[in-house]
Amino acid sequence: MIKRNEIIQGDCIEILGKVTEPAADLIFADPPFNIGYKYDVYEDRKAYDEYYQWTHDWMAACQKILKPNGSFWVAIGDDYAAEVRVIARKLGLNLRNWVIWHYTFGQATKNKFARSHTHLFYFTNTTNPKAITFNDMEIRVPSARQTTYADKRANPKGKIPDDVWSFSRVCGTFNERVKWHPCQMPQRVLERIIKVSSNPGDMVIDPFSGSGTTMVAAAMLGREYFGTDLSEDYVAKSKIRIADTLAGRCKKTDISENPVAKRPGRKVGGGRKKSVAAKSAKPSNSAPDTAVLFD
Ligand SMILES: C[S@@+](CC[C@H](N)C(=O)[O-])C[C@H]1O[C@@H](n2cnc3c(N)ncnc32)[C@H](O)[C@@H]1O
Repeated sequence: MIKRNEIIQGDCIEILGKVTEPAADLIFADPPFNIGYKYDVYEDRKAYDEYYQWTHDWMAACQKILKPNGSFWVAIGDDYAAEVRVIARKLGLNLRNWVIWHYTFGQATKNKFARSHTHLFYFTNTTNPKAITFNDMEIRVPSARQTTYADKRANPKGKIPDDVWSFSRVCGTFNERVKWHPCQMPQRVLERIIKVSSNPGDMVIDPFSGSGTTMVAAAMLGREYFGTDLSEDYVAKSKIRIADTLAGRCKKTDISENPVAKRPGRKVGGGRKKSVAAKSAKPSNSAPDTAVLFD
């Protein structure tokens, strides 16, 4: 039932429920947050009990298809972060990190603090850290010893990022913005997750594919991908987005990160070249050769 490099229109619980054996090395799930977003098919305002049960059901469906050593990342807002944590515990998932994605360009508020973060849960089936794919060398960033203190003791390889990540949201003016989906994830967030939690050739699954961000990042990094989404329109447009990106037909992107290139003494690239997308689609351990932006 899992088709390589495909996005299928339909209900993720139904589709993933038909998969008979663990197929996913990495699952990234960014469900609707039940906060009234306007999707073309899905109604994002459910009663609490209904949304809770549904969250349980899709998380259980995902866990069943996760390989024993696979990784399962879930993005969720404040309103249901506690519930996701509790459900994961009930399902026997192991919490590796509770990452906060801090973003700029949140919505302005008048009488309370502006919300500027999303929760990114990092779960695994196993509790054995040695069994889990964690490619730290792919995602290291310059440490303060390197960037601020010029400390000779600094590890020249940089450091593993903290569990608070700073990446801008995808604003309407960004080249990356698709304009036909209400809550597109930044590709940089997906790149970091895919690089650290999977290897080239691994199967990356996204049950809520939306605008196809996970699929695009997976394809660019030489992973296999499989996605589902309720919306026929989103699925059709995501397929075009993936094909365009791989063919280098997208506008110059402001999205990829290659932290190592930012280190002192190294030249920072000047933007995505036309050939890079196609080159990066081949399995490769190296980060895409793109412009480096830090928040
Ligand atoms: C928050 S968006 C995902 C956004 C995505 N991460 C991106 O970067 O574009 C949630 C998506 O879940 C889809 N969806 C809602 N219920 C679903 C279900 N039962 N099965 C599959 N997709 C569903 C919606 O159509 C919507 O596109």
